[in-house]
Amino acid sequence: MRKALISGITGQDGSYLAEILLDKGYEVHGILRRSSSFNTSRIDHIFDQLKLHYGDLVDSQSLSSLVSDIKPDEIYNLGAQSHVKVSFEIPDYTAQVDALGTLRFLEAIRSCGLSETVKFYQASTSELYGLVQEVPQKETTPFYPRSPYGVAKLYGYWIVKNYREAYGLHASSGILFNHESPRRGETFVTKKITKGLSRIKRGMQEKITLGNIYAKRDWGHAKDFCNAMWLILQQEKPDDYVISTDQQVSVKDFINMCLEILGFSVEWKGEGINEVCIDTKTGKVIIDISKKYFRPSEVETLLGDSTKARKQLNWKPTYNLKDLAKEMIEYDLEEIK
Ligand code: NAP
Ligand code: GDD
Repeated sequence: MRKALISGITGQDGSYLAEILLDKGYEVHGILRRSSSFNTSRIDHIFDQLKLHYGDLVDSQSLSSLVSDIKPDEIYNLGAQSHVKVSFEIPDYTAQVDALGTLRFLEAIRSCGLSETVKFYQASTSELYGLVQEVPQKETTPFYPRSPYGVAKLYGYWIVKNYREAYGLHASSGILFNHESPRRGETFVTKKITKGLSRIKRGMQEKITLGNIYAKRDWGHAKDFCNAMWLILQQEKPDDYVISTDQQVSVKDFINMCLEILGFSVEWKGEGINEVCIDTKTGKVIIDISKKYFRPSEVETLLGDSTKARKQLNWKPTYNLKDLAKEMIEYDLEEIK
């Protein structure tokens, strides 16, 4: 039986990837961070089928022990401080986890003498492109990260490449564009919108307050993107791949899509920080803007070109954005009930 070890198993992607690997017959091990309350809600439905171990990406010793005890065939490094805005507030910690955490994992593989047997997947990101140097962005597009998160992930990307070239490790990076799901963390913009508007619809909340609604993203479904992670590790040779839907919409477009799904009739008024969205039935402001949610430096636009993954991995997304938004809203409405 093949063994996989996942860091970040309690996160959005970790939970979908664990399901995918269990379905394929893997023995799935996951790294759990100690917390003062339960944080396993995304994996509770498969809890009994998983082998969970305490560990942390800032703790080299825990990674070495896990790698040497489990001797996994595949390692998926999904653990991260993954919030871009928060990375401006805790840049040092973000670097410790997202940059050095990757190095610690690679060193754990080397020090356990498993360099020739383990395959390593690194959760890289379209945030590397930041202030984009080319449209659309593909594997050869120069990087220009715009946040402590992006810079930390850039280190992760390069150290993976370096260990591949220096030590012959089967180590690959998936440069994933934004991907969402009903399990998305509540402070990311799509979930904030689907959950907030669902609560407004049910009369449980007055309004949502957002930041830059003109930012553009290439949004896919986490399930599709986690399938790509597995495909990347099944390749004979390690490599880096852009994973994206190759389509782009603005945050405001996504809001309008959700408003339509929920049957709101609205009017947008004002500009910049004074822009508001008014529910024409009640006359109330349901969306406003605050500087609080703007970033010190923003990634205004991201659009992927996943031709390489589509050709070499035979991968393509199965969800469109409207289906994704509907699934998130249905989940949020059900949860409110
Ligand atoms: P997420 O929901 O925020 O999950 C992050 C996971 O990392 C959680 O399980 C978290 O544990 C864990 N973690 C945080 N700090 C850790 C530490 N010090 N040691 C060990 N584990 C730690 O993120 P996601 O959306 O699933 O993303 C998965 C990975 O893909 C991340 O590396 C992210 O940066 C990257 N990525 C995401 C996207 C996207 O659009 N979702 C796109 C590109 C790349 P707790 O549950 O205990 O907090
Ligand atoms: N979170 C948030 N909250 N973002 C907002 C808000 C708000 O109230 N209002 C506007 N935005 C804008 C952000 O400024 C950004 O331009 C866009 O919405 C998306 O923000 P997030 O959903 O927080 O995602 P992200 O693009 O910054 O980062 C996500 O995707 C990356 C891949 O490109 C994260 O999942 C990262 O971990 C991932 O690497």
